[in-house]
Order: sequence, then structure tokens, then C-alpha cells
Amino acid sequence: MSNTQPAPVASEHIELKARKVSFDWRETPLHWVPGDPFTTHTINVLHLLLPAGERWFIHVYKQVLPYITDDRLREDVIGFIGQEAVHSQAHDDVLPRLKELGLDPTPYTAQVDWFFEKLLGDKTLPPGRPRRWWLMERVALIAAIEHYTAFLGNWVLNADELDRRGCDPAMLDLLRWHGAEEVEHRSVAFELFMHLDGGYRRRVRTWALAFSALVFFWQRGARFFMENDPTLLDGKASVGQFVRKGREGVLPSTPDMLRSIPRYLSRDYHPSQEGDTEQAAAYLAGSPGANGGR
Ligand SMILES: [Fe+2]
Ligand SMILES: [Fe+2]
Repeated sequence: MSNTQPAPVASEHIELKARKVSFDWRETPLHWVPGDPFTTHTINVLHLLLPAGERWFIHVYKQVLPYITDDRLREDVIGFIGQEAVHSQAHDDVLPRLKELGLDPTPYTAQVDWFFEKLLGDKTLPPGRPRRWWLMERVALIAAIEHYTAFLGNWVLNADELDRRGCDPAMLDLLRWHGAEEVEHRSVAFELFMHLDGGYRRRVRTWALAFSALVFFWQRGARFFMENDPTLLDGKASVGQFVRKGREGVLPSTPDMLRSIPRYLSRDYHPSQEGDTEQAAAYLAGSPGANGGR
């Protein structure tokens, strides 16, 4: 059933647990990266994509649980489901604050919901091979998306420029708590895919779909926020701004993002090669939001 798996770089195994979190949005300003609406809104796209996206992960993984023949992996998947459920809810909870500040995300989230619930939903395929094929396709898609959530998690944990710019502490904590848990559970989706299928062509195909969808939704979301920001007369989002902000260190750098592509497509890839579990654990131990709020 399973393919030959590239080994993790360390023999560490972490018991994944969902942490109770609490974030207070009352003081969070519209431009929580001060004076930088483009960076604020580019990162804000996470609040639009993640609630529906992570609910969809859970929906797919619950269907997959009966196929898992490795007890430890099943435990990891259950822990993963618990963490993603909290992530989805925590980002959802930011949306009322955005609305209060004059940014109604509903028209955009409706499109994202349609994408995950209908286009990537269960479909009415006949039982047997077609249904199993579609399930495995989605398991592989989640592994590809989790390559990027781990990439972003690792980035935000190290994005010191966001501190220097005086970003809103609650938002930074939400992003880093989430990022740290993404680093913590970064191997689960890939190991599950390798356990259940692991086909290389499927990995490449679903990476291409995941990457295209992320780029498509991200640029549309950033444009949506910039155009609807009540304080901007002619808000625009462009690739040039993204590249520039990446160079400044307030967004992931474009060269780093491009370099992450061949890593995922390498036959030796294992997610544990990226990110730092100890750094993630250290952040989680001190995160105000994950330790009773502030
Ligand atoms: Fe997550
Ligand atoms: Fe995740």
C-alpha cells in the first residue's frame, strides 16, 4: 500500500495537541502593519482562505481515517485534525473585526467556500475506484498545501522585520502561534499521502493545482481588500509590490518561494527537512494567545 518513504531528518516525534487559544481583537487597527496597507491585506488573505480551507482538510481526513493502517500515523492525523479545527476558528474570529473596520469579506469568502465545498467537495462519484481516486487526489492536494503552510509558518516565526515595524501584537501572535503549529505538524499530511498512495505523478499534478490555486486566490484576495479598504482612494495590489515587500522582509521573499518548489518535487523530500521544531515549541510555550490570552 505504501511507497518507500524518504526518512525524516530527525527521529523526533511530537504528540500533536490542539491548544486552546484566545485573542483579543478590540485594539487591532485596520492597518495592523503600521502604514502598510498592502502588506496588511496580503497577510489578511489568510483569514479568508484558511477557515474554509482547513475545514475542508478536516472533512477529507475524517473520510481517510479508516484507510490508515499505522496506529501512530492515525494518532498524528487525529492531532492534526484537532489543531486545524482551532486554526480555522481562530482566523474566522478575525472576520467580525475586519467588518467593524469597514472591510466586509463576505463576497470573497463566498467564492472560497464554493471552491472548497463544491469544486473540491465529495462529488457524486460511484463507489469503488472513482471515489477512492478522488479521495487520494485530495489527500495529495492537502500534502502540497501543507508544504506551503509550513513554509509560511517558518517564515513568520523568523520575520523579525514585522516586530521592527511595530505590528499589532495580537495579530502577530495569531500568525506565529498558527505558524508554529504548522511547523510542528508539517510532516503529517505528507506522511499520510505517502502511506496511502505516494505516487510521484500524483504529487506533481496536485502540487501544480495547489500552487496555481494559492496564487490565484491570494492575488484576488489582496486585490479585493485593497479595492475595498475604506481609507484608500485607489487601492491596488500588484506583483511588483509583493516582490518589493518580500525584499523588505515583511512578506516572504519571491526567490525563497520559488526555491521551495523544486524541494517539494524532489524525490528525497521530507517536510522535516524544513523549519525548526524547537523554535516552534519555544514560541508555543510563550505565545500569549496559546497560554490564556493577554
Ligand atoms: Fe493550520
Ligand atoms: Fe496545517
